[in-house]
Amino acid sequence: MSNEIKERHHHSNFAFWIISVMHDNPLLPIFRNPYKLLEAAGLKPGQKVLEVGCGPGFFTIPAAKIVGKEGTIYAVDVHPLAIKKVQKKVEKEGIKNVTPILANASNTGLPDRSVDLAFLFGLFCSFKAATRVQIPLGAAKYGESGKVMSI
Ligand SMILES: C[S@@+](CC[C@H](N)C(=O)[O-])C[C@H]1O[C@@H](n2cnc3c(N)ncnc32)[C@H](O)[C@@H]1O
Repeated sequence: MSNEIKERHHHSNFAFWIISVMHDNPLLPIFRNPYKLLEAAGLKPGQKVLEVGCGPGFFTIPAAKIVGKEGTIYAVDVHPLAIKKVQKKVEKEGIKNVTPILANASNTGLPDRSVDLAFLFGLFCSFKAATRVQIPLGAAKYGESGKVMSI
């Protein structure tokens, strides 16, 4: 784990807990329907998709269901608790097409052209984090059909 990742980890366990409580609220999908948002972002069956800052996985499971067995979701987060939580959710649901990755979005370790689409939601809670991910997303080389969306 890089020093940068360690540093963020130490500063944000409590913040992550708050985010988890909010995002796992069963009423949240009524107001923020993940399927509608992901379909609007262009997710389709069979795609390989990078999710930047997956957090507790509010979008990860719906994204995995949309891309289906032929697709893959690379769920990246800098926070170890996020990756642990996503791993747990994926196992509980018996989902096989999610690869959780503990990494900073600035260096996911994924090879060039390995995704068709990347999305990120909810990272503007930290302007610094958003700035960090915009640069690598803009610079990354995606496939011919590659698209990047940010909100
Ligand atoms: C507010 S949460 C949003 C979670 C999810 N995207 C959603 O909207 O439900 C932001 C997440 O982004 C992660 N994050 C922030 N900066 C990041 C970076 N540079 N690389 C990877 N993950 C990052 C945080 O650890 C946190 O889990």
